This record gives sequence, C-alpha cells and structure tokens, in this order.
Amino acid sequence: MKAILPGTPGDTVKPVVLGEAPEPEPAAHEAVVAVEAFSVNRGETFQLDGGLDRRWAGWRPGKDVAGTVIRAAADGSGPASGTRVVAHPPAYGWAERVAVATTDLAELPDTVDAVTAAALPLAGITALRLLRTAGPLPGRRVLITGASGGVGHYVTELAAASGAAVTAVTATAERGAKLLELGAAELVTSVEDAAGPYDVVLESVGGASLPAALAKLSPGGLLVWFGQASREPVTLNFFDFFKGANQARIAHFDYTTSDAAYGQDLAALVRLVAGGRLHPEIGVIRGWARTADAIADLRGRRVRGNAVLTVG
Ligand SMILES: NC(=O)c1ccc[n+]([C@@H]2O[C@H](COP(=O)([O-])OP(=O)(O)OC[C@H]3O[C@@H](n4cnc5c(N)ncnc54)[C@H](OP(=O)(O)O)[C@@H]3O)[C@@H](O)[C@H]2O)c1
Repeated sequence: MKAILPGTPGDTVKPVVLGEAPEPEPAAHEAVVAVEAFSVNRGETFQLDGGLDRRWAGWRPGKDVAGTVIRAAADGSGPASGTRVVAHPPAYGWAERVAVATTDLAELPDTVDAVTAAALPLAGITALRLLRTAGPLPGRRVLITGASGGVGHYVTELAAASGAAVTAVTATAERGAKLLELGAAELVTSVEDAAGPYDVVLESVGGASLPAALAKLSPGGLLVWFGQASREPVTLNFFDFFKGANQARIAHFDYTTSDAAYGQDLAALVRLVAGGRLHPEIGVIRGWARTADAIADLRGRRVRGNAVLTVG
C-alpha cells in the first residue's frame, strides 16, 4: 500500500516521502481503517527531526486519522466493517490503511466529515485533558500561549464555554482572529501585553515565554507546562516568584499519561463537534502528496489551527 515514509532525521527539505509500506497486520484487538484524512502535529515534526527519542525501527508517522473500518477487530470489540471512525493510533496512520486498537477510536456520525474528524485526535484530546488538569474554570482568568495552534483553538473554545475569561497569545492579530470568535475575551501579541493576574496559565512555547507568563500568575496560581514549541529551554529565577506568583505551582503535562482510553475522549470531541459546540480550525487542507509542504508550513508558523491531508 501507499504510505508516507519518514525521511532522514534533520532533512527539512524532504522530511517525508510518499512511498510503499507493508499492509497492516492487526492484532486481535485492532480494527483496520481505510484512511481518508489525517492531520500533522508539531510533536510529529519533532519526531521527524529526530528531536524526540521516539523513533524506532520501522517507525512511520501518523497519530490522527479518520476513515472507514474495512476489517473489524478479530476479538469482536469495536465497530463493524463499514463504520466511519476517527482514531488515534500511536503511529503508522499516514497511510492508506492502519491498524488501530478499538479502544483508541470513536464512531463518526454522518454530520462530521473525515477532514474535520482528522483534526480532532491529538490536539483535541490534549485540550480536554489540559482543562481537566487546570481544574474548575467558571469565573477564572486563563492565559494561553501559542494559542493560534491546534491545541490552542480547542482549549480556547472549551475554556470560554466553561465560563473562563481567556487571554490568548498569538504572533499576530490575524493568527488569533478565530480565537475571538471562539470566545476568547482578549487577544495579545506578546505575553508582556497580557494584563494579569491569571488563575491559570497554559504554556507551550518555552524560552522566554514561560517566565514571562509565570510572572502574570496570581499568588498560588497554576501554570500547566505542556510544550516547548520554540524548542528553547526555559530558565527560571526563584526570586521572581516573590514579585507576584508567590507559591505558584508548575505542573508538567503529558496527555499520554492519563488512564482513560483515547476512544472515550474522541467520542466526547465528536459529540461536541456534532452538537455545534466545538469548531475545529483547519488552516491547511491538502492532498497527501503535499505532506512535506504542510510540515514546512507548520514549522514556519503559517498554519492556523490544524493541518489536514486527504488520502487518495
Ligand atoms: N504535553 C503534551 O502532552 C502535548 C500534547 C500536544 C501538544 N503538545 C505541545 O504543545 C504545543 C502546542 O501544540 P500544537 O499542536 O497546538 O502546536 P502548533 O499547532 O504548532 O501550535 C504551536 C503554536 O506555538 C506558537 N509559537 C510561538 N513561538 C513559536 C516558535 N518559536 N516556533 C513554533 N511555534 C511557536 C505558534 O503560534 P504563533 O505563531 O501565533 O506564535 C504556534 O501556532 C507544541 O509544542 C506541542 O509539541 C504537548
């Protein structure tokens, strides 16, 4: 079958190529999905760079897919052949077909198309789990950095709907325009311009962004540290906390560590989309032969929300 194959780590011109890969060999608890669309996540660009120690022999990218089950799981779990689904396999999804554990997929209603669904898994599950980590939000002030990305759009809409006053940080007003429609109370183009204090900070840019955002936290507030999009490490000064964020807590966040199966959160996301309460922002839609271009756009901060590729 055809599949997107990883290039040599560090090759920014050809990070991936469309080539041939073996058919999936599903375990008993896995269904085979014919992929119609998939999305690209920033973490996968790090994997392609070799920047994360998460490549293994035979690894191919692909965590977010939508399509149709063409072979039900042999153990009888999950949907029947012919069911439209969205799924979150650990890899191999940028392909014509992929095997997925039936706990890691959710059925799609006719009203949710494959392109929309493919934008949901990693960014949407992360948003749900981030907000659970943040705790109750009604009436609370929330600052989110890197808000123009895939996670940021979902977090903003869900937090605002929960009653939070969300301040979103984006590089330009254009990159944040949709966030205001989704319920953000305020848009700023630099953390320094955000008028604190905030009860919760959701930080994923790293470098100078984290200390600047931390300084906006109220005493005893919570900073959830969920990424480092800039790839620049963070330096903190203990004494800066006394200037405002005294007794602040920093929680390191990894969406994969929750006990819950991805399928439950995927079903919740699908329900929200079908009910008109979650609106995936898909800044790039292309045929999968142009996956390398989508990766270049993501790296170049030219994608608003998610990037989705269609298969075939
Ligand atoms: N911990 C976890 O479990 C988990 C799960 C999912 C994602 N993540 C991480 O969380 C972050 C957000 O994920 P995402 O999928 O929303 O990523 P994304 O779509 O690439 O969005 C990241 C945003 O960060 C901003 N940014 C600021 N400085 C940047 C820089 N120097 N380089 C690149 N981007 C920069 C960009 O917005 P502007 O251009 O508007 O500034 C960009 O839109 C990523 O770092 C990702 O790796 C972590």
